[in-house]
Amino acid sequence: KAWAFWRPFSLFFGRSPAGRERVGTTLVELIETIADLRARLDADRAVGRSIGFVPTMGCLHDGHVSLIDAAVAANDRVVTSIFVNPLQFAEGEDLHDYPRSLEADAARCGSAGADLVFAPSVDEMYPRAIDTVVTVSAVAAPLEGRYRPTHFAGVTTVVAKLFSIVGPCRAYFGAKDWQQVAVVTRMVEDLSIPVEVVSCPIVREPDGLAMSSRNINLSVEERRQAPALRRALDAGVALVEAGERAAPPIEVAMRAVLSEVPLGEVDYAAAVQADTLAVDGPLHDDVRLLLAVRFSKARLIDNDGVQIPGI
Ligand code: PAF
Repeated sequence: KAWAFWRPFSLFFGRSPAGRERVGTTLVELIETIADLRARLDADRAVGRSIGFVPTMGCLHDGHVSLIDAAVAANDRVVTSIFVNPLQFAEGEDLHDYPRSLEADAARCGSAGADLVFAPSVDEMYPRAIDTVVTVSAVAAPLEGRYRPTHFAGVTTVVAKLFSIVGPCRAYFGAKDWQQVAVVTRMVEDLSIPVEVVSCPIVREPDGLAMSSRNINLSVEERRQAPALRRALDAGVALVEAGERAAPPIEVAMRAVLSEVPLGEVDYAAAVQADTLAVDGPLHDDVRLLLAVRFSKARLIDNDGVQIPGI
């Protein structure tokens, strides 16, 4: 079954870089089965079209739209998946509270220029209890892996499955989930999956809060306090830029700013090497600062990078 959502008329004039005609009203098509999506994308590849893929769990915001924009700019066909993946939520996490808004999401995909929305049911993706799990070890172990020990196996398993359904493509991920991008990149390299992983910059609200589908689960007072995450990262970056090369003082400085968030419980505030997410002596080259803060109904993560010049 495929539904169609009309895109606003005025948005698509001219020609996309990939050469697609974008004049007048066009359609985004909603596809619900693996077989239908495969057939559509195989047909596109057979006539030489490149595929851009944006995997999401829905409740789309401007951060997701920036991923679709990047995909539209570089590919002939763009598919966005919307699937709240139960495998990546542990018992007691927010699977049932996770915001869902399929119709609005599909319309948003259409106005952003996506051609297809893949929104399978849980039964379509997992017709029986899954017996195959894809895990990445070292990169997935610290930080999120420590606080959500089953999370990344759920992510890599569904992403491997989505990549197998979509086929060769460029896949766009937001850098807000820095560790997720590192884990998925490692999986793709280790398993020679024919997908190019593209990491796109974090999109922020005017007050600095990183956009996230979970922000709508913050209370008014929590939302007021949440921009302190951005300020904590700024304090960490400033310390590295001032010459600090040891991780612990940077972590202390970030936690000091996070004390301005009495409603949030800090899971971690870490300074690590950007690629391995580990510390191997004094910080050097590409450094990443990462935070996770738990509020009553939303757990927020954020990060920023700083480059240490070589000697
Ligand atoms: O980042 C997300 O929204 C999810 O982890 C992803 C990549 C869509 C897998 O479910």
